[in-house]
Amino acid sequence: MKTTITAVRARQIWDSRGRPTVEAELTLAGGAFGRALAPAGASRGAHEAIDLRDGGPRFGGWGVDRAVAAVNGEIARLLVGRDCADQVGLDRAMTDADGAENLSRFGGNATVAVSLAALHATAAAARLPLWALLAEGRKPRLPLPEVQIFGGGAHAGRRTDVQDFMIMAPRAQSVRHALEITADVFRAAGGLMADSGRLAGAADEGGWWPMFESNEAALGDLTRAIELAGYRPGEDVFISLDVAANELHAEGRYRLGLDGADLSSGEMVERVAQWVVRYPILSIEDPVAQDDLEGFALATARFGDKVQLIGDDILVTNAERVRRAAAAGAGNAVLVKVNQAGVVTRAKAALDAAKALGWGAIVSARSGETEDVSIAHLATGWDAGQIKVGSFARSERMAKWNELLRIEEAMGEDAEFAGASAFAASVAAGLT
Ligand code: PGA
Ligand code: ZN
Repeated sequence: MKTTITAVRARQIWDSRGRPTVEAELTLAGGAFGRALAPAGASRGAHEAIDLRDGGPRFGGWGVDRAVAAVNGEIARLLVGRDCADQVGLDRAMTDADGAENLSRFGGNATVAVSLAALHATAAAARLPLWALLAEGRKPRLPLPEVQIFGGGAHAGRRTDVQDFMIMAPRAQSVRHALEITADVFRAAGGLMADSGRLAGAADEGGWWPMFESNEAALGDLTRAIELAGYRPGEDVFISLDVAANELHAEGRYRLGLDGADLSSGEMVERVAQWVVRYPILSIEDPVAQDDLEGFALATARFGDKVQLIGDDILVTNAERVRRAAAAGAGNAVLVKVNQAGVVTRAKAALDAAKALGWGAIVSARSGETEDVSIAHLATGWDAGQIKVGSFARSERMAKWNELLRIEEAMGEDAEFAGASAFAASVAAGLT
């Protein structure tokens, strides 16, 4: 059979933070080939698939020799001879053989690279772009971009407590249009920070890394940047936040260093609720910590009818967790990171669970990335509706935005853009 796997190989390559990561390659009997590179998070949920690192003094412990060896040894022996088109079977073979729910034996960095490489090889064998293979004949929608303007939290020396200050342009006509708006706002924000002498550098995902007096000051400056760029905040362009509140949480309290605040879960939700009242915020990710389902439900009851509430660290791209959160009335959207789930099939299951609930879904990059553009194809082919890549700088980010432009052009007249329809019904209703 042309799609029989004949070789599985991995090597150590380097990610956008200069740390080792895993690249996997699959070759099929008919000559088709697929390659994928594992990304890596910094603000990670406790229930994610584990990246296998070597530890010890070499590369600060970040080495991936063991993960590479797992691919070249046990995983290769498992997969060679199997049909690559059976993605479910391949993923299950790896997760069963690993034996640990969090894939700690092979490493999620090993399994995600192999799983995605298999997808690419199958698309190559079918002579289809990956997005078209994943669409399975349905008409896919291009995703609405969510783009970082200011970076903070664990990605920028904790200059702000909130990790990502992003924008979304749900009334744009296309990816191309949304990215042009983004470019204008990104430039205006950089100019505003440079003019006031507050630029400290670039954050891990490429966003400006400025000095702010409070988290709220950053919201004010972002609103101002949208205006300076010539757009109407809350109409053309909205603010979107990833609070990544796990990173602020210890022993049941939330500490916002920049604001000098030490808050209970209820007070944290109240603080975010005030931001929602004062600023044109359309979407908020992880407003509370990974185990604070009660706080997440409180936030959802308080403003989840107007604002998209995304679970990242709390849901870790896990279908069962999505269903459990929905049953508790917590959240209305899921962040989908394939390496959190460890394999493609599990990530797709989380996305499908969210869609079945009428939730939004955002396919997302990690803070440690590479030139791999798989997520542009997943977001489009799976019809996720939204995509989060990081900022509008650094080539590991731009590679994904640029791939979306190629996909949009390849679709031609058929290209459909998710825009406002990407959100859960009550949030979308406020936009139309
Ligand atoms: P991470 O950050 O990749 O460091 O986890 C991204 C996010 O929190 O969404
Ligand atoms: Zn997040």
